Amino acid sequence: MKTLSKPNIKSLVSDLCSEMQPYIMFRIAKRVLELTPELEAKGRKPLRMSIGAPTVAPPPVLLKKITDLLAEPGIHSYSVPEGEPFFRQAVAKRMKTRFGVDVDWKTEVCSLVGSKEGLAAMFRGVITPKDDIMEKDIILTPDPGYASYADAIKIAGGLAYSMPLTPENNYLPDMQRTLQELTNRGYNSNLVKALILNYPSNPIGATAPFSYYEDVVRFAREHNILVISDNAYSEMVFAGEPKPPSILEVAGARDIAVEFHSLSKPYAITGWRIGFAVGNADAINVLNTVKSTMDSGLWKVLQKAAVFAIESPLCEQFVTDMNKVYEGKQKLMKQGFLELGWPEETLNLPKATFYFWVPIPPRYTSCETFATEVLETSGVVLVPGTAFGKYGEGFVRLSLVNPDDEMKEVIQRLKTDGFTYQPA
Ligand SMILES: Cc1ncc(COP(=O)(O)O)c(C=O)c1O
Repeated sequence: MKTLSKPNIKSLVSDLCSEMQPYIMFRIAKRVLELTPELEAKGRKPLRMSIGAPTVAPPPVLLKKITDLLAEPGIHSYSVPEGEPFFRQAVAKRMKTRFGVDVDWKTEVCSLVGSKEGLAAMFRGVITPKDDIMEKDIILTPDPGYASYADAIKIAGGLAYSMPLTPENNYLPDMQRTLQELTNRGYNSNLVKALILNYPSNPIGATAPFSYYEDVVRFAREHNILVISDNAYSEMVFAGEPKPPSILEVAGARDIAVEFHSLSKPYAITGWRIGFAVGNADAINVLNTVKSTMDSGLWKVLQKAAVFAIESPLCEQFVTDMNKVYEGKQKLMKQGFLELGWPEETLNLPKATFYFWVPIPPRYTSCETFATEVLETSGVVLVPGTAFGKYGEGFVRLSLVNPDDEMKEVIQRLKTDGFTYQPA
């Protein structure tokens, strides 16, 4: 019999995928797992300040609801990618009560298997893949920003073009300037298909005034660029602060914008995978088309539980209570960093989300080096700012979701191991 040569599956992998690494958070998790025996042996069990996910249990009423739903007839069969009518109707109602926005549940709402999946499907819906970098479709992306944007745009065959979020621009990039700069660098501005906004933002926690959304809608309409507003943290704002708006509150926004919402963080159900998109009917239509080839919709139990979550006053109270908890953790962590010698003016406390964006000590020139040393020495897991884009250099992100005693231990370990702002 003829001997067959060894198959080479790697040679079959697409150019787009062969260049890709797994998502940064999973890479960090893997590295932590590898280091765990060594860290435990020296009394430095990993303390994960890296995961953007609540560690508390979801609201008890929601858990009861989901359990009760399991016995409903017909609830375990396939749903549809766009979501059941009852789900979309409830979302439309929610958009009205929370934001004063009217959306047509039939054409302007769809369900998502988490907003991460929805965003990736949206990018595929607008990008025509090209090989030549100068010919690629472009999506303007906040930098630092949620790490999945750049990866998902790349895998769709597009180019993620950074819009820097800096203290100088108040974390509100000037779109016109970005477009001009892109043109000056030789890119074709006609290839800009979409721009992403994310307020309250991950990783900085920045919020945007309504007037900024108005400016962006005007700009996007002028240039025919789809606005993808990622409102995953719309409910995670501290007491006394204005509630983040929906971009759809801006007159004319439905002609040009689509907004992504997530139930993951406010209700502490990151593993359930449920969110929704609302907005421009053509954008929702293409999103549904892409999704219909990749998912078959959400488990109906989840859709019913989600409706319960967004309508239940007890779940609303849970969100409010958790925001107070996160605000308390923020104060605790800030105090800890002050004790470690960080100057007060370098520690900007966001008014929303549960993130803390902290500058690295001046003796470090790379946030990766700092995060690696802290991990390997102290077992404290931080996310280097560059995981969120090149403009994240010089910072690390902490998620303030851990129990208070763990957060105190983080500070204690950093102190003991010499990770102070200035060397002692
Ligand atoms: C800004 C932002 N958008 C979207 C997501 C995705 O959330 P999910 O897929 O759980 O809805 C996250 C998760 O960390 C995020 O930080």
